[in-house]
Amino acid sequence: MLVHRDRRRDAVRAAKASPPLRGRPEAAAGFVDRFGRASSPACAALLSSRLLRPIPIRLLSEFGPWAMPMRASSLLAALLLLSGCTFGGSGIAPFTPAPAAPSEDELEVPYVPTPRPAVEAMLDMAAIDPSDYLIDLGSGDGRIPIMAAQRGARALGVDIDPARVAEAGAAARLAQVENRVLFRRQDLFVTPLRDATIVALYLMPELNLRLRPRLLTELRPGTRVVSHNFDMGDWRPDARREVGNSRLFLWVVPAPAEGRWRLQMADGRETLLELEQRFQDVGGSLDGRPLRDATLSGRHLRFTIDLPEGTRTFLALVEDAAIVPDPQAEGPQDWRAARLP
Ligand SMILES: C[S@@+](CC[C@H](N)C(=O)[O-])C[C@H]1O[C@@H](n2cnc3c(N)ncnc32)[C@H](O)[C@@H]1O
Repeated sequence: MLVHRDRRRDAVRAAKASPPLRGRPEAAAGFVDRFGRASSPACAALLSSRLLRPIPIRLLSEFGPWAMPMRASSLLAALLLLSGCTFGGSGIAPFTPAPAAPSEDELEVPYVPTPRPAVEAMLDMAAIDPSDYLIDLGSGDGRIPIMAAQRGARALGVDIDPARVAEAGAAARLAQVENRVLFRRQDLFVTPLRDATIVALYLMPELNLRLRPRLLTELRPGTRVVSHNFDMGDWRPDARREVGNSRLFLWVVPAPAEGRWRLQMADGRETLLELEQRFQDVGGSLDGRPLRDATLSGRHLRFTIDLPEGTRTFLALVEDAAIVPDPQAEGPQDWRAARLP
């Protein structure tokens, strides 16, 4: 616990010492100028759209063709000023408080972006496609959700730091994917996860472990979890890769298969299937005979069994209260197992 607090304090100190986009959350997120005057909604949108601020080289290289050259943005700023967008106007605008920067308790980990090649590799490992919905817990400048959206998926990024949320929203507009991606200021520990088909993480080892029970129970079986640099303790990754200095991990959320199942064949014969499970590792027996080569990936269960009539391989899907033949797989479809209390 002490170590955790110290690490968190170090992380917060590191975050405060790294100024890439700090110091301007008011203009970016709160739509308040440096004199505390609120801008009109239109001007606020433009302010937050980053068009009026220098575009960091980092962003230009990340989102290349969509990034607007700095000189053009300065010209646009001048045009907007000339057209009456005066950040506060001539009258006294009501004061709008800017969203507060995260407290030391809220900021669990400092902002460090995942290098772009590593993001590409994480998305490849998750086999992302347009049917996916990715959630990045602690989304920083938004690069993971934006790159997911550039591959046609829908994505959500949550971050506790309003400056990061504003920055990510602006980057999504530059990348022209704002119709598929959403950024929200939210504590990642209260973000509902149920709808995700991919969860992306670049946190810290102990945060991964704190999240692990929720990943295993809230996410649907088959959901992919990708993490940059940090693993999940004794939940073995299903795949790992190294890209530059980044270590990348993939897990497929396993279905809960452990328990006793009554396996019924088409001819009415009944046998007892007993499954033990530790994350995706499964084993067990069928009528006392040990299962061979048992694997579980999401809902997909496979095992081989030596029966008196010969060796048989079962390719199955684990549902909530039943294990059924996998209709996509070749193999016998003449059986069904029901969960026993
Ligand atoms: C290491 S950065 C990762 C950024 C991004 N996911 C990436 O890989 O490029 C971690 C991010 O988590 C955010 N963060 C820290 N504590 C948080 C919390 N409790 N809830 C939501 N976001 C948080 C930080 O503001 C930071 O942007």
